[in-house]
Amino acid sequence: MSDQGIVVSRPYVALDHRHEELSARGWTVLSADELSDDVVGALEEFGQIIPQFNGQTAFAITRKPGYEDLPYSQSMNGIGPHTEAPVYGPPPRYLALHCHRQARCGGGHTGLVDGYEFLSFLETADPELREWINDTPVEFVATAKPGEPAQTRVKEFILTPTEDADVFRFSYNQFHYGDVNPSKEDLRQSQVASSSSPLARFARLGEAYFVQRNTPVLIPDGCMLIWDNWRMIHARSQYTDPARHLTRYWLA
Ligand SMILES: [Fe+2]
Repeated sequence: MSDQGIVVSRPYVALDHRHEELSARGWTVLSADELSDDVVGALEEFGQIIPQFNGQTAFAITRKPGYEDLPYSQSMNGIGPHTEAPVYGPPPRYLALHCHRQARCGGGHTGLVDGYEFLSFLETADPELREWINDTPVEFVATAKPGEPAQTRVKEFILTPTEDADVFRFSYNQFHYGDVNPSKEDLRQSQVASSSSPLARFARLGEAYFVQRNTPVLIPDGCMLIWDNWRMIHARSQYTDPARHLTRYWLA
């Protein structure tokens, strides 16, 4: 008998191994079969979908005109290592990228590295700097969209303990150019390049660690990458294929 009188919103697909992977490694990829044509249903098994900078719950990551010179999600440029939305209290716990069509040009990877491991590495590589991180809050600034006047500005510690887990914050754009979404003017001068401040040292060490250790993920068409944004640093490699199209979600 097929009709039992029970209505289910999506066919049941066990995602236990994906939850395990996410908690063990900090990221996982759901296959097209596991999504079962119900991306929202699959996401809700990992957390509550929350609004992003523009107030919407689904954000298109694809080339839009006007951002050609900026390290912005809707450009085709590379984006330096960062955690998402460090100005949020707390930032989204998980990030998801659902890939409709991946770049065919050899670029467009999402690189991932474990931020907690980076901080453990610092304990031996530069213990003084690790102490500074514990003692010193850092200013994070976010313009919702490059060039727009509205900014969110907060002072937060790089590592903030919470009941659920520690929240790690890192932003190449912030450390270098003073804004998570820098304008063309902001990009003229790096505040890291010729500085010997602890924050500049932290930025340089973080970038070097990311370059050496990141896992580059090219999300296959139809699949969805989910990662722990309180733990992982991510970045995007430059691409040239204008047909690349993903949707980004934030989960609480
Ligand atoms: Fe990002």
